[in-house]
Amino acid sequence: MIETIQWSGDGIVMIDQTRLPAEENYVTCRNYREVADAIRTMVVRGAPAIGVAAAMGIALGVAQAGPDALAGPDALDASFDRICSELAGTRPTAVNLFWGIERMKRVYRSHRHLPFEQLRDRLVAEAKLVREEDIAINEAIGRNGAVLVPDGKTVLTHCNAGALATAGYGTALGVIRAAVESGKKIDVFADETRPFLQGARLTVWELQRDGIPATLITDSMAGHFLHSGKIGCVVVGADRIAANGDVANKIGTYGVAVLAKENSIPFYVAAPISTLDLAIPDGGHIPIEERSAAEVTHIFGVRVAPEGTDVRNPAFDVTPNRYVTAIITERGVARAPFSESLAALAAEKEAQPA
Ligand code: MRU
Repeated sequence: MIETIQWSGDGIVMIDQTRLPAEENYVTCRNYREVADAIRTMVVRGAPAIGVAAAMGIALGVAQAGPDALAGPDALDASFDRICSELAGTRPTAVNLFWGIERMKRVYRSHRHLPFEQLRDRLVAEAKLVREEDIAINEAIGRNGAVLVPDGKTVLTHCNAGALATAGYGTALGVIRAAVESGKKIDVFADETRPFLQGARLTVWELQRDGIPATLITDSMAGHFLHSGKIGCVVVGADRIAANGDVANKIGTYGVAVLAKENSIPFYVAAPISTLDLAIPDGGHIPIEERSAAEVTHIFGVRVAPEGTDVRNPAFDVTPNRYVTAIITERGVARAPFSESLAALAAEKEAQPA
C-alpha cells in the first residue's frame, strides 16, 4: 500500500507529491509550521489527505507546546488557537481540512482539563485515528461504488483521487480498485489535469503500481473519448459538496461532467461524508482557491508563456448537481434530489463504515 502520510517518532512523514513520479521521496515535517507549508505547497494534497495532515499537525503542535502548558491553560489555549488558525489558512476549498481541525478542537475542548501529557496523548491518538478511519472509509466507498462501474468498459477520471489524495486506497480510485477486485475487466483513462498534472504524475503512477491498465490523455481529449462509446462512466473525487449536491473538485471537472451528460455517460462523485458541507446551500458558496500564476506560465520550472502574461489559476471548479448521476459515500449512494439524499446519509449514525 502507498503510505501517503504517517505519524512517526520524528514527526509527520509524507510522500512528496511534488516529486512523483520521478522520485519517491519522503519528507518529515518536524513541527506544525512545516505541516502547514507541506499543505500549501502540495507536498501533501487531496481533500481527505489534507484533513489527516491538519489533524496530525495540530497533535504535533500541541505535543511541542509543553512550555506553554507550564505557563497555564490560557497560554496553551492561545498556542492551540494559533496552531489551528495557521493550518486553517493553508488551502480554502477542501472542507476536509476544516473538518479535521474541528474534530481536533472538540477533543481539545473536552480534554483540556487533563494533565498536559494526557491531553497530548489523547490528541495524538485522535490524529492517528483520523488516518486509520480514512482508509476504512475509502474501502467502504469502493465497495459501494464498484457495483456502479460497467464491466468491460473504460472509466475516465480527473485529477488524483487515489491513495495519494487520502490516507490510503482512495475515493474515485478506491471505486476503481474495488471494481477490479470484484473481477470486473476495466481500464482507466486519466486526464493529465493541467496545471499541476495530478492525473499524469500521480494517478497513472498509482494505477501502474496496482497493475490496473491506465491510458493518459490530455484534458482537451476528454470530450473526444466521451463521444467515442469507449467510456462506461466517469468517477471523480470532491473537495467540497454543498447541501444541494453541487460539487467542487479539481479545475476541469465541470467540463468533463457536462461532456459526460451530453454523451449520456454516468458521472459519479466518490467522497467521504466529511466532504459534505451541508451548512452551505449550493456551490456558489464554496471558496475557490486561486493559485500562483507560475503554475500556468511554467512547466517544471520552464517558462512556456511570454513574460508579462496575465494569468488566472483557479484550482477548482463547481459542477452543478444536474450533471451528477450519483454521489458515492461510505454510508451509501446518494441520488437526486441530493438535498434529501445527502441530508439522510449525513444524519445516519456514525456506526459506519461496516
Ligand atoms: O489541488 P489538489 O490536488 O489538492 O486537488 C485534489 C482534488 O481535486 C481531488 O479530486 C479531491 O481532493 C478529491 S481527493 C480524494
